[in-house]
Amino acid sequence: MRLGVLTGGGDCPGLNAVIRAVVRRGVSEFSNEFVGYRDGWRGPLEGNSIPLGVEAVRGILPRGGTILGSSRTNPVNEQDGIERISENLSRDGVDGLIAIGGEDTLGVAKALNEAGIKVIGVPKTIDNDLGATDYTFGFDTAVNIAMEAIDRLHTTAESHQRVLIVEVMGRHAGWIAFHSGLAGGANVILIPEQDFDLDRVCAYIEKRFEDQYAPIVVVAEGAKPIGGFPDSGDEATDAFGHARLGGVAHWLEGEIESRTGKEARATVLGHVQRGGTPTAFDRVLATRFGLHAIGAANQGRWGKMAALRSTSIELVDLSEAVEELKTVPPELYREAEVFFG
Ligand code: F6P
Repeated sequence: MRLGVLTGGGDCPGLNAVIRAVVRRGVSEFSNEFVGYRDGWRGPLEGNSIPLGVEAVRGILPRGGTILGSSRTNPVNEQDGIERISENLSRDGVDGLIAIGGEDTLGVAKALNEAGIKVIGVPKTIDNDLGATDYTFGFDTAVNIAMEAIDRLHTTAESHQRVLIVEVMGRHAGWIAFHSGLAGGANVILIPEQDFDLDRVCAYIEKRFEDQYAPIVVVAEGAKPIGGFPDSGDEATDAFGHARLGGVAHWLEGEIESRTGKEARATVLGHVQRGGTPTAFDRVLATRFGLHAIGAANQGRWGKMAALRSTSIELVDLSEAVEELKTVPPELYREAEVFFG
C-alpha cells in the first residue's frame, strides 16, 4: 500500500516523531511506501509531494517543526478542492492519507473521508483542546517552555517589585495558561473560559505586594475582561476564520499600571512555545500515535483518529475527533484559585 503523509495547521514539537514512527513501522512491518505531502492540505491540493522513506526520517525524532512543512490551507473553501485532492492522490498512486493536525486539519480529514477519500487522523496541537483525546503532543513541551519563562520572570519581578504579565497561547482553551501558571506559581491565571474581573485581578496584585512579593500574571491570548475589550477594529482572520490574537498582556499592562500605580511589564511568549525540541512525554506520545495510525491504515480502519485514553491509544471516529473542543472545566480552575493573590 502507498500512503500520503501530511502535517497541517500550526506546527508543534513532536510532528517529526509521528512521521518517523509512521514510516518506520509502515516500511518494516507492512512494506508500505510513502509520499510526503508539502505544507498541509496545500500539498495534495496542488500535487506537491516529496519522497518519504526510512532515510528521510533518520535523526528527526528530537527535531521540532515538521520536515513536511505546514500551512492553514483549507481545501474545503477552494473551488473543487476535494476533487483536486482526489485526482492528485490517484495520479501519485496513493491509496490513503495519514493527516496529522488539530481541529481544522482533522475537520478537513473528516470531510474528505465523507467524500470517499481514505484518511486516518493523528491529533496534534499545543493547545490540548481536542475533546476526543486526553492529551495531544506538543502541549507538554509548550507548558514546560512557559513554566521555565515564569520561573525566570519571578526573580526579575522581585528585584524590581514589578508586575510581570506573561501571555501564552490558547485562543479558546486555557490549558497552557492553567498548567504553566500552576506549575510556575503564578499569582493570577486568566483563561478564555472565564471572563475576568479586572478589579479582582488588581486586588490580587495589591495583596501580593503587601506580602512583599512581586506578582506574576499568566494570561491566555484568548482571555478577556467581563464585558469584553474596547473595540480594536482588527478583524484579520485565517482560512478557517480564526482571528489573529495577541495583545491582551499589553492591554493588561496599561490597565494594571493605571489602576494600582505599580509598574507592570508584559512578556508575550508567542511562537517560542511551538519551537524547538519536544519533551520526552511528547516524543513518546507522538511515536505511539504514529505507530497506531499506520497500524489502523493497514487494517483498513479509515475515518479513524488515534486518541489517548488514560494510558492506552484507541481509535475513535474522525467525526468524534472534531465534535467537541476540550476546555478547562470551572471546577479545575477553582482548584488553582487558592494560589491567587
Ligand atoms: O493552534 C495552535 C496555535 O499555536 C494557537 O495556540 C495560536 O492561537 C495559533 O496557533 C497561532 O497561529 P499562527 O501561528 O498561525 O499565528
